[in-house]
Amino acid sequence: MIDIALPKGRLGEKVYQMFESAGYGCPAIHDQNRKLIFANEEAGVRYFWVKPSDVAIYVERGAADIGVAGKDILLEYEPDLYELLDLGLGKCRMAVAGPKEFRDDLGKTLRVATKFPNIAQQYYAGQSRAIDIIKLNGSIELAPLLGLSDLIVDIVETGTTLKENGLEPLFTIIPISARLIANKVSYKFKNAEIRDLCRKMHTFCQEVKKKA
Ligand code: PRP
Repeated sequence: MIDIALPKGRLGEKVYQMFESAGYGCPAIHDQNRKLIFANEEAGVRYFWVKPSDVAIYVERGAADIGVAGKDILLEYEPDLYELLDLGLGKCRMAVAGPKEFRDDLGKTLRVATKFPNIAQQYYAGQSRAIDIIKLNGSIELAPLLGLSDLIVDIVETGTTLKENGLEPLFTIIPISARLIANKVSYKFKNAEIRDLCRKMHTFCQEVKKKA
């Protein structure tokens, strides 16, 4: 049995479709209820619906053998696990954004609001720029509007949230997408099953790419 942590929500639905198409369906998952665990003994899989930012924790600690997490979470928390495959879903980018008229004053410490302090810290360390990180948990775009920060480091998908709040993407830090991840011990002891699943998912991803 492979235990799989799926990110709850829109991305999770798409990710599950991918597992189903690769031959790891679990019909009970379509039942309208609030259960969080679903198993298909015949297919040898058990799914858990997990808060997206928690998937890597379940996998790192071995509560799930594999899972799907955004590259943003993997870069931010640097969990000790294997990244097996880029699923090509949930594509967006990590970016620096701010007001159009923003001009950096190198004489001042730059105030940066973000949900991703580690990513922001590393990016600005690479630029040798001193920053003051303001860690927020959501609605990051508000921070420069209210004078809480000069800039933000955040996920940009369509760019609509920035635009509608009078902000602009200024620099792309890194492209982001959903990744198939595995617990290191599970990968050793369930190696054949996990590699088989990974291969089927990879084949499915390639077919989707070809059609696109
Ligand atoms: C994310 C991100 C941006 C928005 C970007 O927020 O933090 O605010 O999506 O998407 P867009 O470029 O398509 O507009 P999320 O919806 O996760 O909510 P949050 O503000 O509570 O973090």
